[in-house]
Amino acid sequence: DPTLGQLAERTGRYFGAAVDNPELADTPYADLLGKEFDATTPGNGMKWYATEPQRGVFDFTAGDEIVNYAKAKGLKVRGHNLLWHQQLPDWLTSGTWTKDELRSILKNHITHVVKHYKGKVFAWDVANEIMNEDGTYRENIFYRTIGPSYIADALRWAHAADPKVKLYLNDYNVEAVGPKSDAYYTLIKRLKADHVPIDGFGMQAHLALQYGFPDRMEQNIQRFAELGVDVAITELDIRMILPSDAAKLAQQADWYSKVTDACLAVKRCVGITLWGYSDRHSWIPAVFPGEGAALPWDENLAHKPAYDAIREALR
Ligand code: G3I
Repeated sequence: DPTLGQLAERTGRYFGAAVDNPELADTPYADLLGKEFDATTPGNGMKWYATEPQRGVFDFTAGDEIVNYAKAKGLKVRGHNLLWHQQLPDWLTSGTWTKDELRSILKNHITHVVKHYKGKVFAWDVANEIMNEDGTYRENIFYRTIGPSYIADALRWAHAADPKVKLYLNDYNVEAVGPKSDAYYTLIKRLKADHVPIDGFGMQAHLALQYGFPDRMEQNIQRFAELGVDVAITELDIRMILPSDAAKLAQQADWYSKVTDACLAVKRCVGITLWGYSDRHSWIPAVFPGEGAALPWDENLAHKPAYDAIREALR
């Protein structure tokens, strides 16, 4: 039977899953990643706190471990991420920086990390979660200190360090047409007009059954494609209020196939990445107590209805 990765490849796409470093030690779990998928994203290993724990001191141990695993198993790697308001090192968040200082810190970080992974990752989430729900810019340390120009600069610095890697903006709650995705639409249109290197828009797709399926997802993907960028589903999971039951699992399966269909309907939707793959390892219970069961494999690594639904949709 073809794997999810192979089924996606037949459509010219990839099908990946995120993995965090400690999970590689869970051998039956890690084996599944190598077997079923053709792409992966480090869940934490390439974030700023991991890659530059002291100013100017770089540590690529965690990211390299995942790159090496991926290489051994024939998976390609999405880089995640170059800047975000979370998981920044203490030296960065506790410092007081002038605009020029922070620009040079950001440039140095991006340059070192992108050069290190040149040829090893096919895409980067350059700027992660930079918009608020209402479509205004998130007041992260970079916005507060530098202003909105940090976004174009980050893209230009990443491009200079690796002219071939695909550069993405990435966020959650942007799967539907709405104020937040509208803000990205306007921003990307502007960046394109200004000849800033931007190749793609990442829709994380952390969905929850209790909030409803994102409105007009396919049309939303389509409008970004028409701007001349790729779209990727970058962190897909579909959580529910626990306990799970047959009806919720059936609805979850239906949503997994709807997301897959929405991507397959648009040529420039280049691939789908799950944020983990089994309920054994997921970020959700720690962040949303009482919710979970969000992935296509259960805690015992058995297929859930969602798994078959994705396969059906890819065929
Ligand atoms: O490394 C420490 C460890 O030393 C300590 O013992 C342990 C105790 O809590 O915490 C460990 O750090 C945790 C880290 O993951 C590494 O495992 C943090 O507490 C935990 O908050 C952190 O969670 C990550 C989260 O981003 C941070 O916001 C998740 O694993 C990761 O899956 C999640 O991923 C994000 C994407 O990057 C962006 N989009 C949303 C997505 C889900 O939140």
